[in-house]
Parts: sequence; C-alpha cells; structure tokens
Amino acid sequence: RRPKKRTKIIEMMDELQKENVYIKDKERVEKLLCQLIQDGKSKLQIITDFDMTLSRFSINGKRCATCHNVLEDSTLVPESKKQILDELRDTYYPIEINAKMTIEEKIPFMMEWWTKAQSAIVACNFRREDLTRAVRESNAMLREGCDWQFHALHEHSVPMLIFSAGIGDILEEIIKQHSQMYANMRVVSNYMDFNHDGMLVGFKGDLVHTYNKNEGALRNSDYFTTLKERRNIILMGDSMGDLRMADGVPNMQQILKIGFLNDNIEERLEKYKEAYDIVLVSDSTMDVPNAILKKIL
Ligand code: C5P
Ligand code: MG
Repeated sequence: RRPKKRTKIIEMMDELQKENVYIKDKERVEKLLCQLIQDGKSKLQIITDFDMTLSRFSINGKRCATCHNVLEDSTLVPESKKQILDELRDTYYPIEINAKMTIEEKIPFMMEWWTKAQSAIVACNFRREDLTRAVRESNAMLREGCDWQFHALHEHSVPMLIFSAGIGDILEEIIKQHSQMYANMRVVSNYMDFNHDGMLVGFKGDLVHTYNKNEGALRNSDYFTTLKERRNIILMGDSMGDLRMADGVPNMQQILKIGFLNDNIEERLEKYKEAYDIVLVSDSTMDVPNAILKKIL
C-alpha cells in the first residue's frame, strides 16, 4: 500500500507547481501551511522587505529602480554626483549579493555604501516636493499582484510591516502611485529629514542597511508586542539579511519564509533553498504569496 500523501496542500496549489518554485523541505512547508490555514487571519501578520521584494527587479530585461535609484537616476542630480553614485553601486552591489562572503564580512561595506550614498544624495539639494516627480519619472514599480495583496490584507485587517533598507519617503510614494498606502501598513525604513524650507538636510534615526535588520527588529519590539496574539508570520524578502526581520517577535509560533531570488541565481540558489521555505526564482509576480493568502484569509 502507498503511504498516505503528506504534501496535499502543496500539491493542490498550481502556483507551487511551477518550475521556478523551489521548496526544499516539503513536509515542513506542508505543516506550516496547514497550521496557518487552520489558525486563520486573526493569528497572522506579514513582515516584508520592500526593494526587489514588493518592488519589481526588472522589466523586459532592464533593472527597475530601487528607492535609492529613484533619486540617483533623477534629472535633479547633477552629472558629477551621478558618477559618484554609479561608482558606489558598482563597487558595493556585487558585495551585497556575493554568495561567498558572510553577512559579518559584508556589514562594514554596507555601512560605507549607505553612508556615502546618503551624503551624496543630501548634497543634491532635493526638496520635499521633488519626490513625487522623481518617482513618477522612474521605472520603480510594484510586483504584479501587490495591489490585490495590499487591498486584501487591509480588508481582512492583517497587519503588514514593511521593513526596508531603502528610503521610507520614496517607498511610500511608490506605493501611493502604484497602489495605496493602507492603515494596516507600518513602515520601518530610512526616512529623509527636511528643514523648515522643505530642503533635504539628512536622514532621521538609526541607519537601516540590508544586513542590520535584526537590530532594527529589536528596536521595534513595541510594535511586535502590540501584535503578540498574532503568532503566525509570513515573511517575504530577497536578501539573506531579510531573514532576520522577525527577530524580536515575542512568542512566535510559525514563520513561513518566502524568498525572491532575483540575481546571481546559480551561485545563491542552494543557500536560499536552505534559508527560505519557499524560493521564487526570477518571479515578477506575487502569485505564490497571494495564493497562500487566499487560503488563509
Ligand atoms: O528594501 P530593501 O531592504 O531591499 O532596500 C535595500 C536595497 O537598496 C538593497 O538591496 C540595495 O541593493 C539597494 N541600494 C541601492 N542604492 C544604495 C543603497 C542600497 O540601490 N545607495
Ligand atoms: Mg530587498
């Protein structure tokens, strides 16, 4: 006699059968899905990264802008500054996605990248009202299905924490232009500091970069405490640093980690399959998370 199928939910979901979907431990994911569905929406919260997780990595083979790129590529930045920012990206982005270096080895480089880029951006004399135009003229966009997801989470009162090493003001503007900022969303990110004349003078608060989200998570323990009954988490990210966004969640019961692998794919796939429960390779949609949400909500 054949053993009873232990991956029934996974097999029932067409979205999980696609070739770009990797699930290393199907039994674990099956159990997680089963529990998340059983506990339902009142026990659920979402913790997600922004750049290249909610936002799209590329369109027609061309990279889409990150929050930083929205400013860096804007016509308001003089050529001399553009060159500096491009050089920074060429130097540090390969380190960010390097498959061989450890997170600890990467951290000092990320600090350098963010700090240098922030001072170059501040030196461009941006004004608060420039942001709308910069976002409109950029090719930053959300993954297909984000709009449905935001609306559904709001309808069902499921809290969503957007935890981003990008720029808070820019990501809010991207969401506003392509969907809507809802009351159930909370953003933790690097926010710009404008003076009373509306001129950008710096960034507020503690710096969030790709690999210190664990520290940021602990600083936001108040938020997590208010949600302590919501013990099931769906975490979405595109970087190994995003896995620690839920550090500091008290009495967490289940965490389903969904990882988008967009770049340097062959070198990183094994590590991603180890670290994330579900890995979505070169996926420009929210189809998988949304299919799971449809079962829970
Ligand atoms: O929202 P998330 O945490 O993904 O935001 C960080 C992303 O912004 C990084 O993945 C990094 O590649 C990108 N970045 C950038 N330009 C900078 C600094 C970071 O495009 N100056
Ligand atoms: Mg990201």
